[in-house]
Amino acid sequence: MSVITVKNLSKYYNNFCAVDNISFEVKKGEIFGFLGPNGAGKTTTVRILSTILRPSSGNIEIGNWDIKKDSFKIKQMIGLVPETANVYPDLTAIQNLNLMCDLYDVPKRERKEKIENILRQFQLYDKINVKTKQFSKGLKQRLILCMALIHNPDILFLDEPTAGLDVQSSRVIKNLIKEYNEKGMTIFLTTHNMEVASELCDRIAIINKGKIIALDSPQNLKKIFQQAQTIEITFNGGIEQANLENLSEINKVIKTVDNYRLFIKNPTNAFIEIMDFIQKNNLKLIKFSLQTPKFEDVFLKIIEES
Ligand SMILES: Nc1ncnc2c1ncn2[C@@H]1O[C@H](COP(=O)(O)OP(=O)(O)OP(=O)(O)O)[C@@H](O)[C@H]1O
Ligand SMILES: [Mg+2]
Repeated sequence: MSVITVKNLSKYYNNFCAVDNISFEVKKGEIFGFLGPNGAGKTTTVRILSTILRPSSGNIEIGNWDIKKDSFKIKQMIGLVPETANVYPDLTAIQNLNLMCDLYDVPKRERKEKIENILRQFQLYDKINVKTKQFSKGLKQRLILCMALIHNPDILFLDEPTAGLDVQSSRVIKNLIKEYNEKGMTIFLTTHNMEVASELCDRIAIINKGKIIALDSPQNLKKIFQQAQTIEITFNGGIEQANLENLSEINKVIKTVDNYRLFIKNPTNAFIEIMDFIQKNNLKLIKFSLQTPKFEDVFLKIIEES
C-alpha cells in the first residue's frame, strides 16, 4: 500500500526546471531514499511533499489526501527535518519542544511525559533546561529530530539528516531512524551519500538534474555502483597501458598525469590481479587507493545500462 503517490510532478523556478516530470510511490512502512548530487532537486521535492512549496504541475497524494485540497490534513500527519533546520536559540530544549506541541495541538496532559521520553531517547535529557544556543551542531540536529517527531507523525521527511555530523552523532541518528521505522513510521530521506542511503533505505530513487534516473533496492543499485568503482594507482616506471587493459578484472583504464584510473569489476579480485601484475613486471607500487564511485560514473553506468 502506498502512502505517497507522486504523478508527473514538475517544479519551475521562473524558467528553470528544478524537478522534471517525476513519478513514484512510497510504500507504507518503508524507508525511501532520494539520492542525488547537489542541485538535483531533492530539497525542492521534499519541500513540495511537505506542503511548504507549491508544485508547478502534477498530482500528489499523501495518506490518500490530495496535496492541493487537503494540505492541512497532510501537515498533521507528517514531520519534517528541513535542510536548513533551526531551533530557537534563546529557548531551552523543553521550551522548543513545547512550542512544537502548541503548533501540533499535542494535549497538555501528555506533553511532559512525551517530551521527557523523547529527550531520553535522543540522549538529550541532561540538556532539558539548557538554552539551545549552547548546543553543538550534533546536539541541535538531534533536538530538531525530536521536534519533528513529538506529534507522532505517520511519515517523517528528512532532508540530509546527518550532513556535517561526526560519525558518533550520525550513528545515533541513523539508529533512531531505524527504530522509528521498525515501529511503523514511513521515512522519506534525502541524501547525497550512497553509503547512508544503502545502509538505511528499502528502496532508493536516484535523482539527477530534476529527473529520476533509477529506482531500485540498494542491493540492485549496488551492483551498478560496484561496476563504477575505480582504483587509482601509481607505479614507478612506465608500463604499456594495453597490458593493464588486458587484465580480466579491469574494464577500462584512464591515464592521468602521474597515475592510472582503473575501472574494475570486483575490488578484491582486481586487487589480487593487480598485485600479481606488479610482481611479474617488477614494478614498485607508489600509491594505491580504492575510490568510491563518483556520481557521474554511476549515472553514466545507469544511462549506459538503460
Ligand atoms: N528558490 C529558488 N529559486 C531558484 N532556483 C532554485 C531555488 N531553489 C532551488 N533552486 C535551484 O533548483 C535546483 C534544485 O535545487 P535543490 O535545492 O532542490 O537541490 P538539492 O538536490 O536539494 O541539492 P543539495 O544537495 O545541494 O541540497 C538547483 O539548481 C537550485 O539552484
Ligand atoms: Mg538539498
